[in-house]
Formats: sequence, structure tokens, C-alpha cells
Amino acid sequence: MLSARLPSALESGLFLLPEDGDILIFAPETEADLSTLPKDRVIIIDDFYPNVEMRKAQGFRVQQQLPDQAAAAVICMPRSKSLARKWVAEACARVTGPIAIDGNKTSGIESILKATRKLTPTSDAFSRAHGKLFILLPVAQRGEAFTSWHAGMAPGPDGFTTAPGVFSESKIDKGSSVLASVLPSRPGRRIADLGAGWGYLSAGMLQNPDIETVHIIEASKTALDCAQKNITDPRAKFHWGDARSIRLSEPVDVVVTNPPFHVGRAAEPTLGQAFLTNAAELLTPKGTLWVVANQGLPYEATLKEHFRTVDQVVLESGFKVLKAMIPNTRSRAKR
Ligand SMILES: C[S@@+](CC[C@H](N)C(=O)[O-])C[C@H]1O[C@@H](n2cnc3c(N)ncnc32)[C@H](O)[C@@H]1O
Repeated sequence: MLSARLPSALESGLFLLPEDGDILIFAPETEADLSTLPKDRVIIIDDFYPNVEMRKAQGFRVQQQLPDQAAAAVICMPRSKSLARKWVAEACARVTGPIAIDGNKTSGIESILKATRKLTPTSDAFSRAHGKLFILLPVAQRGEAFTSWHAGMAPGPDGFTTAPGVFSESKIDKGSSVLASVLPSRPGRRIADLGAGWGYLSAGMLQNPDIETVHIIEASKTALDCAQKNITDPRAKFHWGDARSIRLSEPVDVVVTNPPFHVGRAAEPTLGQAFLTNAAELLTPKGTLWVVANQGLPYEATLKEHFRTVDQVVLESGFKVLKAMIPNTRSRAKR
């Protein structure tokens, strides 16, 4: 984790902050302690709604886009290699001073170290707490060295637009396609897609002329921007928000979801369970939730707690589709 390495990198002078100017921190882990940095100079670059809200509440400036210029940057390695490269290219183009890259051993830090070294001078890597931090040194023309690493929205699977770092960036998720294949032709009039990604499930449902509204709810602004490119149907309503707590202006007849079950690289089933609990709150009293998940994920007990009936509709290629009907009055009464 960043907080295990950053203070030593600053203290030892390995990461030498310029006296003035903004310091960009790309998507720090939620637990990362940034107190060793001067808060008034920090801009966090993050587009994941819950993290954005958390950092704002801590008093940080948070942006989705980079400013034109900054004095230094810290890139926390994301899960996606294409996103890591995009951030390095963007930082090299805008940051005049040192750029630190930090990641745990499993984050791909070793391979980005090798790849960046071929293009620009770097410091030695500082190793601690099962990870590494190294610095891209501020040299002239650094930005030009990384031109081929720039990336943005691009055509992805089946002609849909995707972008670096979004879920199922280059192929449609098997679980989502299993869910799409069992959804009824008339699922209901008002629908919510929780954790909609770049819009695969919503786009499919909007083929149906009987549907009045699809609420497309997604925490990643980049994924939501892709969904807005992929779905121009006026019945789609886009929400950048947290599927665990969002409220809609109207109850919906159906919720569909392929919930996330990772935080960073760690499996976290409580995340998906929170999606299911909130689905019960969003539905009409006779509403239905459709959820797809890896066979082993423990969602049934949560569903039984919040819905009157729960059935497994299909089990295919290691994915189960569960259908839960009639949110129980106990959970709805808590509103
Ligand atoms: C397994 S993916 C499914 C994406 C899409 N429905 C599909 O079928 O391709 C889960 C999605 O949930 C999003 N997500 C994760 N945590 C979220 C949260 N708290 N609120 C809303 N969306 C979230 C992720 O960014 C990701 O796009």
C-alpha cells in the first residue's frame, strides 16, 4: 500500500517534491493515508464515485480530468494495464516534476517498471511491504516518449465503445451474457441496472419497445461515459452514483445486476450483497431482482433475508442467475 512506501520515499529525498505547484495522486486506495503530503497542493484524480465522495469528505480536491499542468504526481497502480499506461502517458505530458509510480507486487509494478525504463530515465525502485515505488525523473521530452501509451474511448466488443480500465473492456462478460439470455422478453416497464458498466445489459433491454425507462447506475464515470456513447435512447437515465445507497425518483419494477465482488484485487462479497440489499429498496412491492454471479458467491442468504421468493433460474459455465421476487416488508419498512 502507498502509505507504507510514500513517507520513506519523501523523507529519503527519493521523491523530491518541487516547492510549489499541484501534486496529482491517481486513484489512491481508500485506506491510503496521504497525510505526509501538503493537502492544499494535492489533487486526487479519481472517477469512482464512492472514493470521490470519501476523499472530498476528507477535504481533498478531486477531479476526473488532469489539470493542464502540475508539479508532481503519484500514480497508484490500477488493476488494468491499459489504464496504468494511459495514466503514465497523461502524467508525463502534463507534470513538470517527478512522477512516482507505486504498487504492490501483484499490481504489475514490476512490468511497468521494465517498460517505462525503456522509454525514460527512472530512479532505482524502493521496495517495502510487498511492493515497490519508483520515480520517473523530470527530463525534457518525457511526454513524447509515451505517445503510444495514450488511450481513450475506443471500439470494443460487438461494436460497443469501451475505455481503458472499465469492466469487460475487450470482451463481453460471460456472466452478463448468461443473464441477458434468460431475461424475459417483457421484464417490466421501469428498470434499474445496478453497476451497469458500459451498458451491455441496459442496451439489450432497451431493444424492447414496451420498456419505459432504464436507470443506468454506475460508479465509474469512465464506464458511464461509455454507456452514454453506447445508448442514445431517450428512455435511458444515467446516474453516476453508488449502487449500494442510491435512491431513484420512482420505484422500479425490475432490477438487473451483475454485481462487482472485488475491491482492488481482493474478493469482497459484501459489496455485491450491498447491491442486493439496496435493490430491495428500489423495487415496487411486487418487483423482481435478477442477479448473475459466480456459482460460489454467497448471495442466497442475503436475498432470502430481503425477498419473499428466491430461485436459481440457471447455472451455466460457472455462473448462476438468481431471481428474487417481492421485497419483504421488513426491509422496506426500514426506509
Ligand atoms: C461485474 S461489472 C458488470 C458491468 C456490466 N453490468 C456488464 O454486465 O458488463 C460490475 C460493475 O459495477 C461497478 N461498480 C462497482 N462498485 C460500484 C458501486 N458501489 N456502485 C455502482 N457501481 C459499482 C463497476 O465499475 C462495474 O462496472
